[in-house]
Amino acid sequence: MWRSWPPWCEGVLYLCAWISECLRYGASLVWGEEIIDRKLIGALRVENSAFGCIDYVSPREKVSVFSTCAEETKKVIFQLGTASAHLAVEAAQLVCNDVSGIDVNMGCPKSFSVKGGMGAALLDKPEVVAEILTSLRRALPSEKSVTCKIRMLPSTEKTRDFMRVCEKSGAEAITVHMRLREERPAEPAHWDEMERLWDAVQVPVLANGDFFSRHQIDEFWKHCKEKGCRPSGVMIARGALWNPSIFSREPPAFDEMVRSYVRSAVATNSTYQNTKWVLSQMLAGGTGVTVPTSFNGINMKTFNRELSATKSMAHICTAFGEPFEPTYPNRAHTTVFYKDFPFPEEDPQKRSRLPPVDAEIESPQKCRRMDPGGESA
Ligand SMILES: Cc1cc2nc3c(=O)[nH]c(=O)nc-3n(C[C@H](O)[C@H](O)[C@H](O)COP(=O)(O)O)c2cc1C
Repeated sequence: MWRSWPPWCEGVLYLCAWISECLRYGASLVWGEEIIDRKLIGALRVENSAFGCIDYVSPREKVSVFSTCAEETKKVIFQLGTASAHLAVEAAQLVCNDVSGIDVNMGCPKSFSVKGGMGAALLDKPEVVAEILTSLRRALPSEKSVTCKIRMLPSTEKTRDFMRVCEKSGAEAITVHMRLREERPAEPAHWDEMERLWDAVQVPVLANGDFFSRHQIDEFWKHCKEKGCRPSGVMIARGALWNPSIFSREPPAFDEMVRSYVRSAVATNSTYQNTKWVLSQMLAGGTGVTVPTSFNGINMKTFNRELSATKSMAHICTAFGEPFEPTYPNRAHTTVFYKDFPFPEEDPQKRSRLPPVDAEIESPQKCRRMDPGGESA
């Protein structure tokens, strides 16, 4: 079934609003931002009736570490950062009923990930990968998919062997970020390598890296056809961040696309800080994505200065000419929404059984504010 589902998309950020926008424009599936197993374990599932969302809230940090909603259950894949089969299972079991499947990140080269044996560190540990994937497949209901996202290994044969390990261990689809672990996002992705990888396994293989426009995606499929190469889909990260309507053949005008994102951010209780960051990415554009020189009739440089001065969701709405209801709950659209939530007492024994979360992982903003031109997963 997976073979017949292109094109695909990846949700790279923990941003409900952005996920719902990508789905609205036609993405088949959206992957959530990687969440580390230990961050999710212990989280409380809260039905946020004010916004119709389901939030997984950490009682220790008093923040939502993952947020989704019932309408998205069949379309959202939860991505785990993990180096341990038992922690992966514990985290996945907690969240699996609210998502379509669980993906294991095996491509992130960032030091916080690799130091903890997660992300790209797993590319050197096929035995740990086998244990994680087998355990997840065994523990999760059969209708929930188990997938993984990898990077290219130093040779084609090594990548093919690694993909076979993943398939044999239960991965039902494999996304290949077409770069080597040490390559940065500014270096071109190796699309040609897909010709030598797609048939390493029977399960669907998705290509990721440098899909920034519909034209490029069409060119990729044309190239694949000419070469007799049949990957099952493409996964888009930066291209969709700059332009979530990349999935649509009839995209809206730029201004409307941006305003629509603002409305979604308000409706899903996105924090104004994250909303601001995504908006700044959209308004700046990137490789192959040129943006208009003005917004709302205001010169883009001046408008960007206005955006950067905003200090609340209400301010953002005013800047973009969108309505903002003053009736939202206290602390809506801020990082302290759950500050006074009546959390039940935590089981101290359970916490002490978990290995410590390292200091960098503690700061979700660090993970979110990745520089698309810098090091990325
Ligand atoms: C801001 C940002 C956040 C990212 N977060 C993740 C992540 O959580 N998990 C992951 O597997 N990849 C993550 N990535 C990497 C992308 O999934 C993707 O592999 C990479 O950006 C190349 O694809 P692209 O050329 O379409 O951007 C992130 C990338 C960016 C720019």
